[in-house]
Amino acid sequence: MTRIAPPKMRLGTCYYPEHWPEDMWADDARRMAEAGLTRVRIGEFAWSRIEPAPGNFNWGWLDRAIAALHDAGLGIILGTPTATPPKWLCDQMPDMFAVDADGRPRGFGSRRHYCFSHAGYRAQAARITRAVAERYGNHPAVVMWQTDNEYGCHDTVLSYSEAARDAFRVWLAHRYGTADALNTAWGNAFWSMDYRSFDEVELPHLTVTEANPAHWFAFRRFSSDQVLSFDKAQIDILREASPGRDVMHNAMGFVTEYDHHALGAQLDLVMWDSYPLGFLEMFPFDEADKHAFVRQGHPDIAGFHHDLYRGCGKAGRWGVIEQQPGPVNWARHNPAPLPGMVRLWTLEAMAHGAELVSYFRWRQAPFAQEQMHAGLLRPDSAPAAGFADVKSAAADIDTLGDVGGSVKEAALVFSYDAEWVTATQPQGEGLSALWAAFHTYTALREAGINVDIVPPTADLTGYRLVAIPCLPIVPGALAAGLQNFSGQVIIGPRSGSRTAELSIPPSLPPGPLQTVFPAAVARSESLRPGTIHRGTGWTATRWLDHLETTAEAELIADDGQVVSWRHGAVRYCAAWPEGALIAQLVRRAAKDAGLQVTAMPQGVRIRRTERYVFAVNYANAERVITLPGEPVVGSPTIGPAGVTVFPRSTNRN
Ligand code: GAL
Repeated sequence: MTRIAPPKMRLGTCYYPEHWPEDMWADDARRMAEAGLTRVRIGEFAWSRIEPAPGNFNWGWLDRAIAALHDAGLGIILGTPTATPPKWLCDQMPDMFAVDADGRPRGFGSRRHYCFSHAGYRAQAARITRAVAERYGNHPAVVMWQTDNEYGCHDTVLSYSEAARDAFRVWLAHRYGTADALNTAWGNAFWSMDYRSFDEVELPHLTVTEANPAHWFAFRRFSSDQVLSFDKAQIDILREASPGRDVMHNAMGFVTEYDHHALGAQLDLVMWDSYPLGFLEMFPFDEADKHAFVRQGHPDIAGFHHDLYRGCGKAGRWGVIEQQPGPVNWARHNPAPLPGMVRLWTLEAMAHGAELVSYFRWRQAPFAQEQMHAGLLRPDSAPAAGFADVKSAAADIDTLGDVGGSVKEAALVFSYDAEWVTATQPQGEGLSALWAAFHTYTALREAGINVDIVPPTADLTGYRLVAIPCLPIVPGALAAGLQNFSGQVIIGPRSGSRTAELSIPPSLPPGPLQTVFPAAVARSESLRPGTIHRGTGWTATRWLDHLETTAEAELIADDGQVVSWRHGAVRYCAAWPEGALIAQLVRRAAKDAGLQVTAMPQGVRIRRTERYVFAVNYANAERVITLPGEPVVGSPTIGPAGVTVFPRSTNRN
């Protein structure tokens, strides 16, 4: 069956009937529907209530909860409960826990306490998935499934258990065929690291000094594959027992431990969990930004992930299954959003093409780990501060209706193995391919440009500009695609610097990209803080690739250091792509590409769809926007946490 995303974005919430007395369910469902919600996600942590003892199922409560939600007209997204195996199961298989890098097993008493490689746990996960799918797979209220919950949360992808070691050996034998081939691929002649058989290979932790980066890299690849096969087993069961329903998984913010592009290829769509205030606190943003956006989140956190996960979902299908509605409980500091922010986050997701925004959670729980985490309702069931925002967003969505398709402008190429390379072999502090992508994204968005974050295998047709911020391993398909690409290209440092087995390419970096950019990187260095090459309005920091090239020097620092090069439509940024430097290159390339560059006032972002230009204001102050080339109807002033939507004439894109 061909599934078509709804033309109008839906709203939903995450609900835990097992946390509340049964006599509250019907009223909760009624209030959800009244607030404009049409979807509700349930069940993803309910294993101990579904199967309180081995093989002893208690379906009654869940049958009745589903009926209550269904009676209110809500469509149910049902989670498989495999992120929270019950105590009795852990006691049956005490070796099912993941083991941390120091060799300590992770214990029972929270969640995600399993190792992806444990065959016994895999069998149990398949068993409970089948049980839930057979019970509810054809229920008219069940419209979608979520597999597990947040793979990778709490640092759970890499496990150093015996089960992982044994599975890693099998994976290596499959990839390399012979131990000799592995020795050659990894360069094990170095430090006498040769193996005679796969059974001699251990996991790369607990070595005296660093293990071979190729060994680490293989372990990361393997660990990602374990997540994928764990997930695939559930997908197969769900598709068989629950035909016609979509299957998704909820990805996280700034989590890269498994290949989300590959996960997306096996699902029907990808959703993600959006906590802009928590992420601002927990990730390496400038203190100035943390201060300026304390109640809003950095203006690119949500957009970056919307555009990333759209590129992971099949046919671009994606949504937000958990949206922060108020303070969370897990960041260093947990402020409340500005009034209006929950509406802004909701409409911004709509502007980026989401098919659902669902709030986490319906009601704040008065007990257990997340009792300080806001819901749409307070623990006493009165509306919490975010609730009014949701109602007003629901009304806006009704008015706006279908936003039309996305408008293609820039493609930003990111791959998960790029981040694994920079994590495995950073060569300097804070040099991460993910953050290079984020900073390049910011530069594009500050210039008012729409961005699609795409895998290196994506078709580049229709884009005017392609940015490759940091892509150490360049697949042949990308090099070939760029040869036929007629727009502008920006290549960032370290791109093409490694083969698929993590060695330096024979022709030197940028390896396969030499077909579009005639250069050899003769030397690379990372720069300590304070080592700065200054130019006019920009600085080069953190990294420098020194090129032998026939390309023309474009940006030259005052001390004579060449920082960017240009060969026709292709630019090479030799320093770390961030701040004013990447902003400068993006603007030059955008101008050469004929893209409209609109300098955004601080905190403002715009996004064009076929029917509208959405403008959102993350600043805690009024902003005035001008949109050259767009008919601005109404006021160009946007208040703090404000959203303005300008209609476009229909024949534009
Ligand atoms: C997510 C998770 C939810 C809940 C939420 C709290 O990471 O999927 O179950 O814990 O965070 O913000």
